[in-house]
Amino acid sequence: MVYLVLIFVCLFVCSFQLDVEVVDLSHTIGPTTISVPINPPFNFTVLERNFNERYRIWIEGNWFGMSEHTLTHVDAPAHMSMGKEYINEIPLEKLIGPAVVLDVKRKAEMVQEYGISITDLFDWERRFGRIPDGAAVIMNSGWDRRYPHPYAVFNTRNISNLETYRVPSWTFEAADWLLTNRRVIAIGVDSPSVDFYSGETLPVHRRIFRDSVIALEGVANLDSLPLHGATIYIPALKLYKGSGTPTRIFATFPKCRSFLHKLKK
Ligand SMILES: *[C@@H]1O[C@H](CO)[C@@H](O)[C@H](O)[C@H]1NC(C)=O
Ligand SMILES: *[C@@H]1O[C@H](CO)[C@@H](O)[C@H](O)[C@H]1NC(C)=O
Repeated sequence: MVYLVLIFVCLFVCSFQLDVEVVDLSHTIGPTTISVPINPPFNFTVLERNFNERYRIWIEGNWFGMSEHTLTHVDAPAHMSMGKEYINEIPLEKLIGPAVVLDVKRKAEMVQEYGISITDLFDWERRFGRIPDGAAVIMNSGWDRRYPHPYAVFNTRNISNLETYRVPSWTFEAADWLLTNRRVIAIGVDSPSVDFYSGETLPVHRRIFRDSVIALEGVANLDSLPLHGATIYIPALKLYKGSGTPTRIFATFPKCRSFLHKLKK
């Protein structure tokens, strides 16, 4: 009875969207920042961290440098598709949308290089309805717990050899079906790549970019989101001719949804 009353109060408040939960979907950059070793290492250099005699106040300022494709980041279509959009050319409307979370944690535990399949997309639609227009569809394989340990993230014993990396990702068939039959703004993963490293042609990246859609890689903390009903924000840096950028991705959802989410668990 008390439960029921609580649920009704919650739904009532929900209907007014009085309050939202905000979830950070990004990993922290530095001091254990990783990216594939073909990139120059992350560089954080203190320029000033002292009492400034001129202004008579404490001042801190730093220099940082890293690959565009570091930790939680966005890939622009130009990353692997000549003539397609650079990151500064993606309109903001294509950086906000409904978050669709594909929870495949159990499957990814059992299968090395688990790939999101068309069945995973159908399963989501059976529970929640058609994948909404403008959605960002993201795999939650439980990979974010492995950050920031490079050997665990890339699941390898030889970090210098990309071909030995074994991570969960998307099958080409699922990405192709999604892009052909639904209208999405982004395809994402909590692992470091939307393609398997063991493949040679990066088919998923190329298929995504062909449709001027962006890829999200290294998305964190997806367990804190409901599988549907959240809105994702992807505030990529407006980097001129950038092929991607590290991004503080986050999401919001009505607070009572989180309450109902917990009840269901
Ligand atoms: C990091 O950046 C600083 C400032 O540009 C530079 O002086 C330094 O050589 C860089 N360090 C490395 C390891 O590249
Ligand atoms: C690791 O990979 C690199 C690059 O392919 C190779 O040169 C090296 O021999 C490998 N190390 C081991 C221990 O297998």
